[in-house]
Amino acid sequence: MTGPSYRELHARSLAQREEFWLAAAEQVHWDREPLRALDDSAAPIYRWFPEAELNLSYNCLDRHVQAGRGDQTALIYDSAVTGTVRSYSYTELTHEVAQCAGMLRELGVAAGDRVIIYLPMIPQAPIAMLACARIGAVHSVVFGGFAAKELASRIDDASPDVVLTASGGIEPTRKVEYLPTVDEALRLASHQVRHVVVQAREGFAHSREEFAAGWNASASTSSNTDPNTGSNTDASVDSPAHWHDWAGLAARAEPAAPVAVRATDPLYILYTSGTTGRPKGVVRDQGGTAVALTWSMQAIYDVGPGETMLTASDVGWVVGHSFIVYGPLLVGATTVLYEGKPVGTPDAGAFWRMIQQHRITALFTAPTALRAIRKTDPEAALVADYDISSLRHLYAAGERLDPVTQGWITDALGVPVIDNWWQTETGWPIAANPVGIEALPVKEGSATVPMAGYDVVILDAAGEELPAGQEGNIALRLPMPPGTLPTLWGDDQRYIDSYLAAFPGFYTTGDSGYLDADGYLFVMGRTDDVINVAGHRLSAGAIEAVVASHPAVAECAVIGLQDELKGQRASGFVVLKSGRTDDPKTLQSELTELVRRDIGPVADFKTVAVVAALPKTRSGKILRKTMRQIADGEQARVPSTIEDASVLEDLIPVLRPRR
Ligand code: COA
Ligand code: AMP
Repeated sequence: MTGPSYRELHARSLAQREEFWLAAAEQVHWDREPLRALDDSAAPIYRWFPEAELNLSYNCLDRHVQAGRGDQTALIYDSAVTGTVRSYSYTELTHEVAQCAGMLRELGVAAGDRVIIYLPMIPQAPIAMLACARIGAVHSVVFGGFAAKELASRIDDASPDVVLTASGGIEPTRKVEYLPTVDEALRLASHQVRHVVVQAREGFAHSREEFAAGWNASASTSSNTDPNTGSNTDASVDSPAHWHDWAGLAARAEPAAPVAVRATDPLYILYTSGTTGRPKGVVRDQGGTAVALTWSMQAIYDVGPGETMLTASDVGWVVGHSFIVYGPLLVGATTVLYEGKPVGTPDAGAFWRMIQQHRITALFTAPTALRAIRKTDPEAALVADYDISSLRHLYAAGERLDPVTQGWITDALGVPVIDNWWQTETGWPIAANPVGIEALPVKEGSATVPMAGYDVVILDAAGEELPAGQEGNIALRLPMPPGTLPTLWGDDQRYIDSYLAAFPGFYTTGDSGYLDADGYLFVMGRTDDVINVAGHRLSAGAIEAVVASHPAVAECAVIGLQDELKGQRASGFVVLKSGRTDDPKTLQSELTELVRRDIGPVADFKTVAVVAALPKTRSGKILRKTMRQIADGEQARVPSTIEDASVLEDLIPVLRPRR
């Protein structure tokens, strides 16, 4: 090791914040150099690199072309579901992004305007994101597994001028038609979108000619009446939006050059689930993102120019934003955009095939994906079919990496498996193993140590700092480093109330855990009602609101219970209205369908139990945590304020059925 140790570096990042981040900022191209790092004048809302200006699309693309690496591959689109592999050099990707940016501009999109991106894992997704960044527009990507209502609520919050979409996505078992969902979302939203631009995909209902000819919703004749509300959900309601064919419009557009924007301007909004049904619009800024992601690509992911990274997530999640799109391109690496699953497309060797084919050095995935591979190929026999010698590290995030999975995959691949813990709000790892600086010994079950600029503390309920080894609320002393959320979209007060009010001077992560005597962080789970299904973050409150809308349901609780494959599964406990005698099986499938329709298939809500009553405190709060602890076989904490202990007793056989 030649440079400073991790400990020196971390200490410096906190004690000499200005110097540390200004030095890190030298890796970024600025149109106007930062003279100072942190602006704390509006604390607790902090801004990074005030006065500085840059363009992220320039930093991700043009800069590398100008440095003579235009022929190097920037993006590999590897679609296991269509059997396609297509590479884009930096020159080609720059061209595509400039055309797409020109198209947006011709549709009237200007700096600061919002654009919703609702796309499957096709090249147009990163192209659209970078195109927005090129003209200073603010993108908001919505994951394709969300239903129309979720898309509509994001349209209303972000008030975009344009929605960029495709005619469909491909899941292994079915085709997902996007246009009926987009159409319904436009109808449900109060905000009026001006333009919808559609990337035509082969095999989907509407042809390219139809979009180009101004295909609009009124052309559809299908009828689809909601079985529960009786309302018409079909696509035959006129939408004032103009519809366009993406390919035609982009090809005709005047290419747009990158514009300098302020470092503190928003780059994107990414909605995430909180405890209530209303998603939170996490804002990410321009300059902080560029600096923090560049730093993490070097320090954590150890990927540099010309090297290849596969982040097997979706661009709809923060992991996809940071490490499919911006991170790898900022450092001039090659990124793989994978349209497929870890298993079944065609088999559990999909990742190993890509490592060989694309000479991948860093693979980033979710523990669920590794568990799915282990379930299908327990001996990891398929690894031997490929040359995976290019792989240096495997990264896992999105949920807790259980020691069994970590041990299994370490043995199977023979490379260090790096757990990294973070959230949509932070945009990059809070804790990880900084292998690009100094590879620290791996401790199974630990996300290793805090990254630069993160001052991690464990607080008890009263806000007192807990000593090593004691579990409590994981909090971050303010200010957090660059690249973390400065606020929630259009709602500083909600940001303060949601994250900063519980412990003044700290950001509350919503996770609980402990630091050991060596400063290693162990993340144990959420302290709130957020459920994590296959690394997807869902709000118990949002699912409950949908379940409660069923005419038979008097009240309900939705909790995340342990699941061998997906980490957790959302499980519902419902009390029927008096006089209702619904068959539990029928009710379960109706509720599954309702959640699928209102939230989306991603919620994967399939378990419902009918119960006589729900345990509550005297003030009426449902004891979800106690229920979860009983179901998961943990030490259950029953609050002294419980209204009627017999309700809980009666529930035990339902929560822990004899197997
Ligand atoms: N568009 C539409 N539907 C989608 C979708 C999308 N982009 N993504 C998922 N879905 C649907 C699936 O088709 C499935 O629908 P079904 O109920 O009709 O079968 C449902 O949502 C649940 O999908 P998924 O969570 O992918 O479960 P699965 O059983 O199909 O696959 C795994 C299991 C483990 C292979 C899968 O969960 C996986 O790859 N997990 C990794 C997760 C990940 O990368 N998370 C990102 C955080 S870093
Ligand atoms: P998201 O915002 O969707 O990325 O979800 C963030 C949440 O997922 C965190 O607050 C944790 O609860 C959980 N999470 C993400 N990564 C990890 C990890 N490495 N270990 C434990 N939990 C994790």
